[in-house]
Amino acid sequence: MAIPEARSPREHAIAREARHLLPVYAQLDVEPVRAEGVWIHTADGRRIIDFYGGHAVTALGYGHPRLVRTLAEQAATLLFQSNAVALDVRARAAERLANFAPDGLDHAFFVNSGAEANENALRLALRATGRNRVIALEHGFHGRTAAAAAVTWGSERWYGFPARPFDVTFVARDDADALAAAIDDRTAAVILEPVQGVAGAWALPFELMQAARAACDRHGAWLIADEVQSGMGRSGMPFAISRAGVTPDVITAAKSLGGGFPVGALLLRGDHVGALAKGDLGTTYGGGPLACAMVDAVIDTIENDALIDAVVARSARIAARCVTGPVTGVQGAGLLLGLRTSRPASEVGAALLERNIMTGGSADPHVLRLLPPYILEDDHVAQLAAALADIGA
Ligand SMILES: Cc1ncc(COP(=O)(O)O)c(C=O)c1O
Repeated sequence: MAIPEARSPREHAIAREARHLLPVYAQLDVEPVRAEGVWIHTADGRRIIDFYGGHAVTALGYGHPRLVRTLAEQAATLLFQSNAVALDVRARAAERLANFAPDGLDHAFFVNSGAEANENALRLALRATGRNRVIALEHGFHGRTAAAAAVTWGSERWYGFPARPFDVTFVARDDADALAAAIDDRTAAVILEPVQGVAGAWALPFELMQAARAACDRHGAWLIADEVQSGMGRSGMPFAISRAGVTPDVITAAKSLGGGFPVGALLLRGDHVGALAKGDLGTTYGGGPLACAMVDAVIDTIENDALIDAVVARSARIAARCVTGPVTGVQGAGLLLGLRTSRPASEVGAALLERNIMTGGSADPHVLRLLPPYILEDDHVAQLAAALADIGA
């Protein structure tokens, strides 16, 4: 089939994608061709500040010399080996991640995505407890695979499988008493995002996470913190659940973990490790050398460049400067923020994109999501504030 005459580079890309890709994404009206730092360059010569970070992935921005060097050197040295052999680079990544995580969560299993991390965390909890019931929170998002989607609020719209693999009870995200009451001796696990991402950067009340921990302890259930979006320093802490002083049984991570290289992980509390036997979990690509080299480099850079402090500082700056124009308030934590908008967030997002600022939507029609790289500077925040003021209320 001939590609119809394209009117612009972006229309050309859209026409080519439509020929061989499934039409399942609503896409933004730009075609990125390269990027550096927080700047995306488009096919039609625009330069856009990235406040969306490719779904919270590009924690260190684009073209970071350390990440570029790490990937090239690892590819040249040892491109791939599976978990059939022990690798120094895998051991280093696991050690670095365990040291970054809250005390006690000292064993990692590497996978390829957030959904896969959650899938495996749920499997471990169901098997260890021998129970069949999982409690999840309203508005939570945990991924698109069978188990992860089963605990995702509203997934019946696209779930697709004929049945869920276990019983799921959804509880209100702001009712600590209701959550504690729902946890009983039939509960295998509670899964929650400490800061709900897709929902619009909605930070769970600390009392709710503390109540979940206490009730899980009373009834022998596992607490799973899905930190796929909120983790790796994005909340202003290494992992957001620590903000509530709570240690879960499992943390799942992905997105920022690889700084752009696909990798997920689950971190398990040491006292659960003894129950595992050879063959209980498995993956071909998970724990591959490229991914592990990137995990090591990302965490090392976050620590050495004091990027968690930078996250806290930029977050405060956004809260102080960006309640202007259509924005009536800021929610979330660190650089996982939701701007509450007086008019539909989609309109505000489109108006920002016209002004060369890329933001994200959310499940809340009045919340625009910000997930920028941690290397964001005050000047970029000033440009966002000026664009919002220009858009007007
Ligand atoms: C909190 C959370 N969990 C899980 C996922 C699924 O991750 P992935 O798309 O890497 O499977 C996402 C993706 O947006 C997420 O935000």
